[in-house]
Amino acid sequence: MNYIGSKFSLLDFLENTITDCIGKELNHLTFCDAFAGTGTVGSYFKNKTAKVIANDCEYYSFVLNQNLLNNNFDISELDELVSELNQLSEKKDKQQYKIYQHYALGSGSERQYFSDENAIKIDTIRTEIEDLRHEVGENKYFCLLAGLLESADKVANTASVYGAFLKKLKKSAEKPLILKLTEFSPNKNQNEVYHQDTNELIKKISGDILYLDPPYNHREYGANYHILNTIAYYDDFTPKGKTGLRQYNKSLWCKKNTAAMAFEDLIKNAEFKYIFLSYNNEGIISPEEIKNICQKYGKYDIFTKQYRRFKADNARNHKANQTVEYLHFIEKP
Ligand SMILES: C[S@@+](CC[C@H](N)C(=O)[O-])C[C@H]1O[C@@H](n2cnc3c(N)ncnc32)[C@H](O)[C@@H]1O
Repeated sequence: MNYIGSKFSLLDFLENTITDCIGKELNHLTFCDAFAGTGTVGSYFKNKTAKVIANDCEYYSFVLNQNLLNNNFDISELDELVSELNQLSEKKDKQQYKIYQHYALGSGSERQYFSDENAIKIDTIRTEIEDLRHEVGENKYFCLLAGLLESADKVANTASVYGAFLKKLKKSAEKPLILKLTEFSPNKNQNEVYHQDTNELIKKISGDILYLDPPYNHREYGANYHILNTIAYYDDFTPKGKTGLRQYNKSLWCKKNTAAMAFEDLIKNAEFKYIFLSYNNEGIISPEEIKNICQKYGKYDIFTKQYRRFKADNARNHKANQTVEYLHFIEKP
């Protein structure tokens, strides 16, 4: 998934720096991916550590991480069901179809986040997945739902995020949605996945390595990915305005006057010896401010890596397509 701030292209850098800083094998350690997003980082460390704890305040992220971290079955067991889901016929009464009603032109919503056919297919598959929940059990339920989120995202008619839709259907949005499951690497560790504010969760967990990848600017994930939450929750809500936004979480990390305070609170309460913070050089909290906070709580170091920035920005600002990612490190006493 093309996700704001995804660390997909930085995984090697993260692993090498984390291993060098800690100076020992990771396989007996607990790794916490505290702002997990797509789950890229936690799932990468799943088979390299003893246990992964993942958390994110957005429900779609919880679904993706449940699939990546807590599933331990042979995914081919779902092949037949997936092919049945792909061939389901739509229900006659589409009043309950939330994506079609709110986000496709054919319903009169005046929004076009999906083609009519794809919106109906998302709704048809989503309602069936809910009906199957007890029969297939929680693990397979999250696997199917995560697959639907990723498959729907591939045919979304947006520039990249769900803050707005495109007037004309783009090529990829015209293609028919095909439900495909997201592969996970099975393991028998007791991983944990949460859906909470990290500043609250941190008071209840402990471990060895705490990896922090919070938002670094004002862009709220709940607003930019609201449709993924709607597919995941599939609840009743009132979409607002032209873009059809639902009510969303506002993060302390996205505001100038609260971000540094949230960071210090997290570091202070963290019962983890090794803490790593990924943060952008243009972020709300300056590198100096981060350093000052970190030095109050332990030994501090910093590592950097140049990399290409998320595509949505490239379109608007060609000059800023190279950016520096900072990895701040604190070793607590
Ligand atoms: C930079 S993204 C993480 C990207 C992730 N590392 C990846 O590779 O996909 C930041 C994440 O923090 C989450 N987030 C924002 N504020 C939060 C909070 N207060 N508690 C928990 N998660 C939060 C967002 O939903 C978003 O998924």
